[in-house]
Amino acid sequence: MSNVLTLTTRIVSYPDPAELDASEQALLQAAHQAAGKAYAPYSRFFVGAALLMANGDVATGNNQENAAYPSGICAERVAIFSASAAHPDTPVVKMAVVAHSNSFVINRPISPCGSCRQVLAEYERKFNRPIELLLQGASGEVYRVASVADILPLMFTADDLHVKP
Ligand code: THU
Repeated sequence: MSNVLTLTTRIVSYPDPAELDASEQALLQAAHQAAGKAYAPYSRFFVGAALLMANGDVATGNNQENAAYPSGICAERVAIFSASAAHPDTPVVKMAVVAHSNSFVINRPISPCGSCRQVLAEYERKFNRPIELLLQGASGEVYRVASVADILPLMFTADDLHVKP
């Protein structure tokens, strides 16, 4: 006998980003500014992330590429590692992620890669508090995801290692 487990993910879409409140628009704006400073000479795909911490601080990051391709790192991890390095005890409450390109139009939201989801989920669990995601391309529609866990079903965690970090 087998059972089917059906997983559902709830994403709220805003075709018009002007419907977001001013603080969320500002967080997206900070992510766009960060994307403009990305070091992405190989992919020419410029990603920016801006995160809001529980103390009101905002940390930003962008992708940092390398001639040895796997040595590069995504915007989301730059942002959250930077936040954790500076404020190890402050929860992250929200992260905006956007992407720009000179060669094609990015008019729909991009979402964090698998490695970034895994890393973001670690901090969500560390603080026992969801990290809300606001995802956008270069402009246009925004997705809101309530928690990283929503886009990383069956995640591997410290529980699987029987470890309490
Ligand atoms: N990238 C990010 O920074 N974040 C994502 O969510 C997806 C991909 C970067 C990695 C690489 O520098 C470039 O985008 C192309 O994959």
